[in-house]
Amino acid sequence: MILVTCAAGKTGKAIVGALVGAGYPVRAMVRTEKSLESLKKLGVKEALVGNLALFEDVLRATENICSVYYIAPNMDPNERLNGKNIITACQAQKVSRFVFHSVLHTQVEALPHHWERHFVEQSILNAKIPFTILQVGSYMQNMLPAWGQMLETGIHRMAYDVDAPMSLVDLDDVSEAAVKVLADASYANGIFEIAGPIISLKQKAQILSEVLKIEVSAEKEALEDFLRHGKSLGFNDFTLSMMSKMFPYYDENGLVGCDKTLGWILGRSPTSFEAFVRRTAASFS
Ligand SMILES: NC(=O)c1ccc[n+]([C@@H]2O[C@H](COP(=O)([O-])OP(=O)(O)OC[C@H]3O[C@@H](n4cnc5c(N)ncnc54)[C@H](OP(=O)(O)O)[C@@H]3O)[C@@H](O)[C@H]2O)c1
Repeated sequence: MILVTCAAGKTGKAIVGALVGAGYPVRAMVRTEKSLESLKKLGVKEALVGNLALFEDVLRATENICSVYYIAPNMDPNERLNGKNIITACQAQKVSRFVFHSVLHTQVEALPHHWERHFVEQSILNAKIPFTILQVGSYMQNMLPAWGQMLETGIHRMAYDVDAPMSLVDLDDVSEAAVKVLADASYANGIFEIAGPIISLKQKAQILSEVLKIEVSAEKEALEDFLRHGKSLGFNDFTLSMMSKMFPYYDENGLVGCDKTLGWILGRSPTSFEAFVRRTAASFS
């Protein structure tokens, strides 16, 4: 049985779907009761409610588990505590395979939510559990919540510079790679960048225009406007403070990795942004 944590989130559902699709028995850990039903519909064998910040919940979640796919909450002040809990529980339960869904560039202190993860990665190195760390870039799918608005307004808007380079990766590619890595013990001890091809907002807008046959332009949303909007959507203060550091960092540096490792794991080129747009447009029509 494979445990997937944070299973009801964007990443969790994609990974669970890929594992179930490949025939693996999955136990899903979710934070709230209301998420259980959607996971059962995805075909998991078992689902339980638990909080990663509570050791007893994590110990219960890891009972009789062979492999763990650890997805951490997104931008969480308890990053190190959550990490310590899952690692300690896996040691106690003698888990034989541990894959951490990390982020690209955990070495960067200017991105505190990445930097905190760097400490979790260090603990994994010394945990004496066969591990693999996947350092994953930003998803192409992050634009989907604003897809309809983009079609209506002809503006592809994000809160960073329109020329900033980003190694956007297709979450479907990430999930396919995750299944391969989890299933094959020879990936143990590996720390792999999982990044897609480099692209800027301006280049994305050009591809969106060509594929969708509408005029789409790239626009940087002012950070203050983004944060105000985020607050109105219920983003907590910690998340807003992480985002207020992340977007200026992206303005300056983008977030760029190398897509070769993902290509090697998949045995094919990672999905291009153009292919992602074509697939997405087809799914909406
Ligand atoms: N989004 C990206 O582009 C991207 C790229 C690379 C890596 N990642 C990494 O992927 C991970 C997940 O990101 P995401 O975008 O999928 O986030 P998400 O959609 O917000 O999902 C996060 C999930 O974590 C659950 N959760 C939060 N706190 C928890 C706790 N204390 N105990 C148990 N579960 C808890 C949430 O439950 P509720 O639904 O109840 O809140 C939610 O379902 C993050 O670690 C992120 O760094 C994301």
